[in-house]
Amino acid sequence: MTKRNNANWTIPKNGKLTEKDKRILFYQEKGCLVPTRQMLKKKAQIEGIRESGKINTGVLDYVAEHIRAGVTTADIDKWVYAFTTDHDAIPAPMNYEGFPKSVCTSVNEEVCHGIPSNDIVLEEGDIINVDVSTIYKGYYSDASRMFIIGKTSPEKEKLVRVAKECLDKGAEAARPYGFVGDIADVITRHAHQNGFTVVRDYCGHGVGLEFHEEPEVFHFGKPHTGMLLVPGMVFTIEPMINMGTWELFIDEDNGWTAVTEDEKPSAQWEHTFLMTDNGVEILTY
Ligand code: MF3
Ligand code: CO
Repeated sequence: MTKRNNANWTIPKNGKLTEKDKRILFYQEKGCLVPTRQMLKKKAQIEGIRESGKINTGVLDYVAEHIRAGVTTADIDKWVYAFTTDHDAIPAPMNYEGFPKSVCTSVNEEVCHGIPSNDIVLEEGDIINVDVSTIYKGYYSDASRMFIIGKTSPEKEKLVRVAKECLDKGAEAARPYGFVGDIADVITRHAHQNGFTVVRDYCGHGVGLEFHEEPEVFHFGKPHTGMLLVPGMVFTIEPMINMGTWELFIDEDNGWTAVTEDEKPSAQWEHTFLMTDNGVEILTY
């Protein structure tokens, strides 16, 4: 049997509907995609994800302090592994679906899933996304930042800035009892207004008890589409913004790294968010 995706929300066993149940059922009955009860994190789970997020932020701060021209992406991988394990945590990418390293490092035209290597030496003018994900006491957090190595071109600088603005505006658009598509809409409009495009092949995601959970948090799309956002949901927003075409290909040599089709630069920022009664709270600060 396949489950109807619009029957996610079930009536409580005791038959008593809370205001929250009624509100979610109202949207479900209109045919909207709503979360399951399981997707709404309990207090203790949120605290666990928050602790994980603190370590994840520590890793990114450590990278920020040490990254510079001459460093290899394999050096970054070593820092991430050492910092994470020193804090009794596990780098989530390691062995995830066969990923070989502790962190994703995506340089210039690489969109995401760049694999750290001794052969990739950072140079003045490079832009790089460092995507860090941490498991602490079984709880997952996920965030990424861009770093500019020395001074780069005005175009690449703008791309990095606009990608960050897309994340911030997307987070602002994420409202309780709004929809994932509301986030996608503001990101899409801001990217296009600046002459850039939005990657469609990769999405943000629910996170916390596993690395990748429902819902799919797409970044390209229209308002009032996708899943209803309900307080208690924990998810990432992680727009990948391209200078040229949004299309990409996967590096055949490693089967992981996404590269822009036209080999023009790409930029991405990511946070893990908790939906609250009055907007999102960042769990990876
Ligand atoms: N950190 C990525 C994300 O934001 C996922 C990377 S999967 C990996 O969802 F295996 F490459 F680590
Ligand atoms: Co993510």
